[in-house]
Amino acid sequence: MSDMSFDITDNHGHVPVLRDRMADLLAPGVEKLADAAVIVDGTLGAGGHTEHFLRTFPAAHVIGVDRDPASLAGARERLAPFGERFVGVQTRFDGIGEAIAEGEGHIFELAREHGVAGALFDLGVSSMQLDQVERGFAYRTDAPLDMRMDPTTGKTAADVLNTYSHGDLARVLKTYGDERFAGKIASAVLREREKEPFTSSARLVELLYATIPAATRRTGGHPAKRTFQALRVEVNAELEALENVLPIITDLLAVGGRAVFMSYQSLEDRIVKAAFAEMTASKTPPGLPMDLPGTAPRFASVTRGAEKATAAEIDDNPRAAPVRVRAVEKLPDPFGDRP
Ligand SMILES: C[S@@+](CC[C@H](N)C(=O)[O-])C[C@H]1O[C@@H](n2cnc3c(N)ncnc32)[C@H](O)[C@@H]1O
Repeated sequence: MSDMSFDITDNHGHVPVLRDRMADLLAPGVEKLADAAVIVDGTLGAGGHTEHFLRTFPAAHVIGVDRDPASLAGARERLAPFGERFVGVQTRFDGIGEAIAEGEGHIFELAREHGVAGALFDLGVSSMQLDQVERGFAYRTDAPLDMRMDPTTGKTAADVLNTYSHGDLARVLKTYGDERFAGKIASAVLREREKEPFTSSARLVELLYATIPAATRRTGGHPAKRTFQALRVEVNAELEALENVLPIITDLLAVGGRAVFMSYQSLEDRIVKAAFAEMTASKTPPGLPMDLPGTAPRFASVTRGAEKATAAEIDDNPRAAPVRVRAVEKLPDPFGDRP
């Protein structure tokens, strides 16, 4: 999800990050379920990964989720040639449980009956969203301070700047943007909003230039980078959605099914890492020679630590530079005490 990797706007997201590796990671679960295989693409975006999966696995189906109605509309059009093998759902991805429980049609029935064969979460905003200037994700062009992935609901970045207390604003900038000058920036925002509420990105960028010391600017990248990232994470409750979806999607997996997460900033990767560590650990009390019923881990790591893109992949697609990939596979229950 996140950060300056998405400054790169020249490929419009048409090159899905680590496309082939993602298909390799999902292959065992998808091949096991054969023509009952349903892949959940939790971050459909332009549909690049999904298109590749539909081509690579000719028997598989995809439920593509995006909270952004414009992305979903574009992806539906792109994936129309795959007919009944694709269905799109507009929801925050932690709504996937309800979407599958309530969805009508063959693909949802397969997912309910057999479980999910594979799931991918390519976190953050898309290059396409960054390119849509009016949405306010990019700081290099003046635009309304919106930053909602789903522009039909919720607070905007301007709302955050104009209404949060000093403490809350400083916390958002520090925690989600790792911004050293969070307190100073929050003070400047509170001072400036007294004169006039914030509406556009140029005024915020100007404030950041004036507030962040020039010496830091030489080493810390664009002075707006961290603040924009922090606002985006807050506006979209990105970390909350991620924390919520981890137990939901892994619960939905079929035995042998895999869940793969692509994180672009350390806060996301830390959440995925902690959740996976917990699910892959045995709950058997130390000292017992074997797992007891219900205490054996239900998941195994598929990646060793976090996988990174190779230099060649980064050369090909610079958006891959910060990615960290983690995947787990659902194991059979040795005691058969749970399905
Ligand atoms: C990095 S892009 C995915 C690109 C996609 N893999 C492709 O190949 O085109 C992330 C997409 O996920 C969506 N997204 C991010 N967080 C989301 C969430 N919590 N719920 C639903 N959609 C989300 C964004 O709107 C964006 O379209």
